[in-house]
Amino acid sequence: MMRWQSMCVVGGAGFIGSNLCLALAEQGVRVRVVDDFSTGKRANLAPIAERPHVEILEGDITKPAVCEAAVRDMQLVLDLACLGVRHSIRHPVRNFEVNGDGTLALLLAARDGGVERFLYVSSSEVYGTALRTPMDEDHPTYPMTVYGAGKLAGEATTRAFHRTYGFPTVIVRPFNTYGPNSHHEGDSGEVIPRFIVRAMNGMPPIIFGDPTNARDFTYVADIVRGILDCAECDALVGDTVNIAFGRPCTVAEVAAAVLKAAGRTDLEPVQERPRPGDVHLHYADTTKAQKMIGWRPVITLEEGIARLLEHLKRIGADFRKMLSEQSTFNWE
Ligand SMILES: NC(=O)c1ccc[n+]([C@@H]2O[C@H](COP(=O)([O-])OP(=O)(O)OC[C@H]3O[C@@H](n4cnc5c(N)ncnc54)[C@H](O)[C@@H]3O)[C@@H](O)[C@H]2O)c1
Repeated sequence: MMRWQSMCVVGGAGFIGSNLCLALAEQGVRVRVVDDFSTGKRANLAPIAERPHVEILEGDITKPAVCEAAVRDMQLVLDLACLGVRHSIRHPVRNFEVNGDGTLALLLAARDGGVERFLYVSSSEVYGTALRTPMDEDHPTYPMTVYGAGKLAGEATTRAFHRTYGFPTVIVRPFNTYGPNSHHEGDSGEVIPRFIVRAMNGMPPIIFGDPTNARDFTYVADIVRGILDCAECDALVGDTVNIAFGRPCTVAEVAAAVLKAAGRTDLEPVQERPRPGDVHLHYADTTKAQKMIGWRPVITLEEGIARLLEHLKRIGADFRKMLSEQSTFNWE
């Protein structure tokens, strides 16, 4: 049984947020989803939208009145609202407003509304390119993009609320995440779903810049479990923790794994110019999470890609339409 019986999932219509809400709805706890549906989708919440203990509140967290309504009578707030990394390249002001100022607005409402715990979902993008590996929580934070800077501002504000007001906060830093409801489209599009959509259309993966660029990929079900375990862990109050698989994987390896899963090993990846603000290497030291919550991811990259592909086929994904929703240089 979960310790928190009422939870507000901010950004709950998005990729990770919707997976979190689906998992929570199964546990029978009261869930309030708060989202402005700027990149999140109602379809992501369709399996739970009619459940009696699930409430969906449409609103923008940069507005204090929305934040007050969002947190009312909630024990736990999980803040996953964000605008993404590629969005920040073209729209730095709005991006920072949501990722930085929006977090402050939510923290104020949560503190004043008697919320018992606030978990901020940050990002490994706060680190910038690895100066040493694996990257533990004390690795310097030199974000490369306004997105990373906004997430770092969100973190710093969350931490300050603990230090100044004694407000019980936890900060989680997931690394790259993939799985059902991950974005293939527009400037939210992420590498694994983009590669899958292209392969299913008989098109080769496009690798931007150096194919040896590496990231630490974790399947969303593992990330969801990690976030919820962190929210319940008293010893993490006031602290910051990485949640990731803990293993680097190059973009070339991801391309090969997707092509294998899609049965298209005849396709050769093509290389394109680098993306601005791209980090070369990211991979997490997860020792703290192992110690604090017994963290152990269980879904390997091969299995996770196979699961995602199977999910897309099961829901009857229209891969041709999905391809039309992608643009090659999705930061321009
Ligand atoms: N996906 C990843 O690989 C990854 C990796 C590390 C960290 N994260 C972090 O995890 C969290 C969730 O990421 P995601 O991939 O699910 O992103 P997402 O874009 O799918 O979800 C974010 C949600 O926030 C909502 N939102 C945006 N602006 C809002 C506003 N002003 N008010 C209310 N809602 C708003 C969007 O509509 C969307 O549903 C974010 O905090 C992100 O920084 C994600």
